[in-house]
Amino acid sequence: MHSPDRRRFLQALVVAAAAPLLPPARAAAAPAVSRAHFPQSVASGDPRPDRVLLWTRLGAPARAVRLQVAEDADFARLRVDRALPVPEGSDGCLKVRVERLAPGTGYHYRFLLDDGRGGLVSSPAGRTRTAPAPDADAPVRFAFMSCQDYGGRWYNTLLPLLDEDLDFVLHLGDFIYETAGDPQFQDRGGERAIVFDDLDGAIALERGGQRYYAARSLDNYRQLHRGFRGDPVLQALLERAPLVAIWDDHEFSDDCWQDVATYRDGLRDERDRERRRNAEQAYFEYLPVDLELAEAAGADGQRLLPVGRERLFPHVQLWRGLRFGKALDLLLTDYRSARPDHPIPEDAFPGALAYDAEALQARLPRLGLDPAQVRPALLPYVDLADPAHAPLREAARAALLHEGTEAGLDAPHAAARADALAAGPVALPVLAQLVDAWNAAAPAGARLAPPAPDGLPHGLPWLALGKTRSFGDLGARYIVVQETFDLFAALRALDGPASPYDAAQRDWLAGRLRDSDARFKVVASSVSFTSLVLDLAHPDVQAPEPMRRRFYLNLDHWDGFPAERRRLLAEAFDPAGGTILLSGDIHAGFATQHSDATVEFTVPAVSSQTLGGIIEHSAQGDGPQQQATRRLAAALDALIAQGNPAVRYAQTRRHGVGLVRLEGDRAEARFLELPEETCRQRLYERPDAVAPLLRTRRFAFSRGDMRLREG
Ligand SMILES: [Fe+2]
Repeated sequence: MHSPDRRRFLQALVVAAAAPLLPPARAAAAPAVSRAHFPQSVASGDPRPDRVLLWTRLGAPARAVRLQVAEDADFARLRVDRALPVPEGSDGCLKVRVERLAPGTGYHYRFLLDDGRGGLVSSPAGRTRTAPAPDADAPVRFAFMSCQDYGGRWYNTLLPLLDEDLDFVLHLGDFIYETAGDPQFQDRGGERAIVFDDLDGAIALERGGQRYYAARSLDNYRQLHRGFRGDPVLQALLERAPLVAIWDDHEFSDDCWQDVATYRDGLRDERDRERRRNAEQAYFEYLPVDLELAEAAGADGQRLLPVGRERLFPHVQLWRGLRFGKALDLLLTDYRSARPDHPIPEDAFPGALAYDAEALQARLPRLGLDPAQVRPALLPYVDLADPAHAPLREAARAALLHEGTEAGLDAPHAAARADALAAGPVALPVLAQLVDAWNAAAPAGARLAPPAPDGLPHGLPWLALGKTRSFGDLGARYIVVQETFDLFAALRALDGPASPYDAAQRDWLAGRLRDSDARFKVVASSVSFTSLVLDLAHPDVQAPEPMRRRFYLNLDHWDGFPAERRRLLAEAFDPAGGTILLSGDIHAGFATQHSDATVEFTVPAVSSQTLGGIIEHSAQGDGPQQQATRRLAAALDALIAQGNPAVRYAQTRRHGVGLVRLEGDRAEARFLELPEETCRQRLYERPDAVAPLLRTRRFAFSRGDMRLREG
């Protein structure tokens, strides 16, 4: 029930709640804790000096629940003790913002339910803490983490955090994964595999002949959140400290942008607003994020925060700021909701031109370049629009029609695409392949030969960027030629800055960094700013000849926005001073010295398959390509460090979490890492087994000297 009626009904309830709904808690015996009644336990979130958000979920329908907030663990010194109506249509989730609290103060909270036998049962008790007052000179200590895939994997990396005294836990995204059993990086079957109840509501996908599913319906996403939040160690962590969360892609869809998925690599339009709203509704029902997505209900310092569907995509403003005393201004960004599509279309035909000779002639001088300088990066092409090339056009059209049909395009789309591509310029190497395909089926007399390259114009085809197939993410989102992409990006930037942030978020971030008087500014980004360049000419890889070049590993990250990243560093991060970028999503750990004023820590995955593991796993078979891929995976740490001199530390085969401590001018960041195979065992009952496996990397720096010192 998403209409305004519900709110009117709710307010009616709030008023009604004033009347005693629940028998008063008997001071004598503490009510028994029932995880059955509260199967996802409790959590708190978004602490501010005077308030915090509290969350729980009821395992069974109930009209009301009692909230108690106390200054002590025995709930003797109660600050809040009141009944709250349980919103309908929220899958049993309840979020209440508790206000008028004292800054920098610890509180205990629990939810009580009528047990139907005249007694009460309690949720597990949670501990939370408000943020220090803005002028308080208190140390700040928090954990940061991302990417906690669930099926067949255990969150052992979180165990060490249970012994830490944390002001909050920063979650940088991939809190859930919308797919179950994606053979590219997920386990299929096995322990705690998730199988959607509402399979009809899910999206059926296939990879390498293996079927798997992605969430689409609201029930699908809710089931994922229920499952992931059922993890006892994750629950224990969220019972101990407030959560501060931003999303990345898998809360909705892999490598998404706005409400658009990328499973089909451009073969089909994957814009799906309803699906995006389903993902967001479940997210805001389950995550203690303090955003008003409908009129808040309730009064007297406790306000329920229902989720109003009409305020979801494209209206959500997830980016926000939290202040922790003099020490920290925490700036939480949203990299997905407003960003444009990836710079290289996944459905780009390798032979088509991103820029022809004329366009290059016009634009290169504006970059201070002349065509001769960039000639090595360009390729000759043939303009099939020229009537002289009618036979070649016919051959190209036939091959393109076949390619589109084979790829799964329906007949009209395949024909329209073949017509369009065969009526324009095609890079010579690709045209040669099309002609070969034609000649393979043509009678001797009808065979063709592509023109000689001499005298042909040169342009920048998608092939030059590493795009070797028409429908795919290789050469588009992943493994893109550095040299030609840098040229392509510079040419694109002449059309105006491309940013993942809309104007409002850009201005907010710039303003907060400019005006902040906090010693340290943490910019939380779900994806890494660190440029990941792989030099496949490195002898350790022994790559096939054509691959012996430098490649960007991942343009889904900030390598896809080079001009905007440069601008942010130069105009916002560096001038602010004391800027710490925290990021995730790449399932690897990096420490990066972007400049003397700005550092970055990219946290490994809590449990999702590691970057090295994903690359190694992609080498199915034993051909030279696969062998080179396995060598690449083995050399990855060194290659990433060599590919970018700003990278001070890189590891791609361990899971982990991060810890940050800010005290006065001094700062410290630590990675707590576990070998990737450890996540296969459940060590929850044997936490002592973790310590011998744990590896800690420590980086120290200060407000006056942001240069990273390891050790
Ligand atoms: Fe991830």
